[in-house]
Amino acid sequence: MNETIYRPGLEGIVAGQTSISSIADGLRYRGYPIEQLAQHSSFEEVAYLVLHGELPTQGQLDQFRNQIGQAMELPEEITATLRSIPPGVPMMDVMRTGASLLGHWDEQAQDISTEATLAKAVRLVARLPLVMCYRHRLRQGQQVVPPRKDQSLAYNILWMLRDQEPQPDHVRALDVTLILYVEHEFNASTFTARVVASTLSDLHSAVTAAIGALKGPLHGGANERVLDYLLKLRSPEEAAQWVGQALQRKERIMGFGHRVYRTGDPRAAILAPYCEQLAAQTGNQPMEAVAARIEQEVRQQKNIPPNVDYPAGRLYYYLGLAVDLYTPLFVISRTVGWSAHVLEQQAANRLIRPRARYVGAQPRDYVPLEQRRE
Ligand code: ACO
Repeated sequence: MNETIYRPGLEGIVAGQTSISSIADGLRYRGYPIEQLAQHSSFEEVAYLVLHGELPTQGQLDQFRNQIGQAMELPEEITATLRSIPPGVPMMDVMRTGASLLGHWDEQAQDISTEATLAKAVRLVARLPLVMCYRHRLRQGQQVVPPRKDQSLAYNILWMLRDQEPQPDHVRALDVTLILYVEHEFNASTFTARVVASTLSDLHSAVTAAIGALKGPLHGGANERVLDYLLKLRSPEEAAQWVGQALQRKERIMGFGHRVYRTGDPRAAILAPYCEQLAAQTGNQPMEAVAARIEQEVRQQKNIPPNVDYPAGRLYYYLGLAVDLYTPLFVISRTVGWSAHVLEQQAANRLIRPRARYVGAQPRDYVPLEQRRE
């Protein structure tokens, strides 16, 4: 075994091939630059592109939207379970349970054919928003709000959470975040999904495992953690002082840095104007001013730019969403990317089973229990 290729965190290691997205020369889904997709398309159109490899025609898009709409329903038993989960359980844990539960009521759960996996991916994308929104309403003692099947996923998320007609610009801002979160090559959660798929396990298992990986604050969990400090810091001056102290304590500022993008995350740049606009509209300029100062300080002191979670967390806050829904929103969108990777893994499968460099005890013989010292 060639031990020289070992790198902690697999940094820089090419661990497989993909035709779904590339990040070397800006982020592209299936060859299309993320900037163009964010400007011109919708989450549904991008989901179709990522799952099928090509942009849909109008007819294909209508059919795809219709499939998602028709699948937007939950078995009564799942709603009952969402009602009975203890109140303080983190929403990401509920999403993980939800993905697993959805498998129990999916007749094709065990079928790993391409057709079945594609169909299950659509159902998961349609139903995970219901898991999130229903649970959110139920935990607040409110009635669930059924989806409007002829409306987009972004519309329905705002509608089902609030029981109010959402503003079109809010729907659009949410939709853009969902487009940007869809897919990102071999990140930790996607790699998790591929490892699971490589054992010939099923899509619900892969997505459930991936949700567990996304939850961590070094990955998707960061979009919630940025609010920990943004809600605490009252002025740009206080923010500047806090950054200096945090960096001195060698703390990581959530929402900054990226394993691959060392000079800047293109997704963060796309979201920044949406953030500014929403902040102005909702009276949140003070938070934007604090955020801008933090960014300036982190760039100056550590030369580290923000990642997508920095503006996404703020944008969701300006939309008035509960903070623990931010990473679940990431789940809803990334389910598309995970599913595409599961399909790609299945299409040319080889069990993912790397090796480890052993650094443990030298070979030794078993010592009988009675001979071991306390
Ligand atoms: N705040 C402060 N310092 C940081 C940060 C940060 N957010 N990120 C990296 N650094 C520092 C490291 O401490 C290290 O400093 P040193 O050389 O003085 O020791 C240096 O930058 C290099 O960092 P690495 O450890 O090589 O970075 P790595 O590739 O392991 O980390 C990661 C990438 C995990 C994303 C990191 O930047 C981080 O923890 N960020 C905060 C969490 C976050 O926002 N995650 C979301 C990522 S995007 C996504 O998942 C959608």
